[in-house]
Amino acid sequence: MLLLQRVSTGISKLDKMLGGGFIQGRTYLIAGETGAGKTILALQFLRDGLLRNEPCVYVSLDERVGNVLTGAETLGWNFWPYVRSGLFYPFEIRLEAAEVRKYGKESKAFIEAIRKVTKGEPISRIVLDPISALATGAKEEFYVREYLREVITYLEEVCNATTLLITDIPTGSTRLSRFGYEEFLASGVIVMGITRLNGKLVRTLYVRKMRWSQMDPTIYTFEIQSGFGIVIKQPFDALLSKSAGSEVGVDDVTDLDSRPI
Ligand SMILES: Nc1ncnc2c1ncn2[C@@H]1O[C@H](COP(=O)(O)OP(=O)(O)O)[C@@H](O)[C@H]1O
Ligand SMILES: [Mg+2]
Repeated sequence: MLLLQRVSTGISKLDKMLGGGFIQGRTYLIAGETGAGKTILALQFLRDGLLRNEPCVYVSLDERVGNVLTGAETLGWNFWPYVRSGLFYPFEIRLEAAEVRKYGKESKAFIEAIRKVTKGEPISRIVLDPISALATGAKEEFYVREYLREVITYLEEVCNATTLLITDIPTGSTRLSRFGYEEFLASGVIVMGITRLNGKLVRTLYVRKMRWSQMDPTIYTFEIQSGFGIVIKQPFDALLSKSAGSEVGVDDVTDLDSRPI
């Protein structure tokens, strides 16, 4: 039996939770409210690839890419040498809803941009951050869905890249994605959140879906640490039982301390 090849997320505990890591060449959705740590997780995944000498692409759809890379330095991650050596291709692209509508299913603008930047070289890992920006204001969901499907097909079948789609979900929402169909297009979904417990904000992360894998469905807590990035800690339930008896309950709140990098 041919086993599916696995790709590390850059976080060994998360690899275990996923049943061995992402499946090579597939697309995954990282969902969470703003400030949850999605961009950091994505950069950690790319950094893991770069350390293995794999060509990586980071597409920023709403933030200046320079700001993201400079922000990464606060975590002790220096991506610039990889940019200079040509192993890492970070770039920004703005696709307005009108363009998506205009080009519809035939649109190759996005694909062309990736091809142009990478000059047709093979790419191992790709991050689109956030895809929710792809269709800001789009009324005709059909086009966005078709567009996204086409982009994913290209990334999986032509590039054979392992892809992370980052998506913002409104604070307090129980939805997994902005449009409601990204999770069906993806082979797996990781949900990141922020919860208040005893007057403190606790970061949580869990695997919501993982095709063809024995996944760990536990909700874990995590921290963001300089030099390491995302560090997964004890299960959320263990933390809850430790604080049992406390007067203060748990509820979802906005990350007031949110300072996107
Ligand atoms: N150098 C750092 N050390 C510790 N935490 C950081 C650092 N940089 C950013 N953070 C934390 O990460 C959060 C932002 O993470 P980010 O991945 O940008 O979120 P998202 O992409 O989900 O909006 C901030 O709210 C901040 O709490
Ligand atoms: Mg982000």
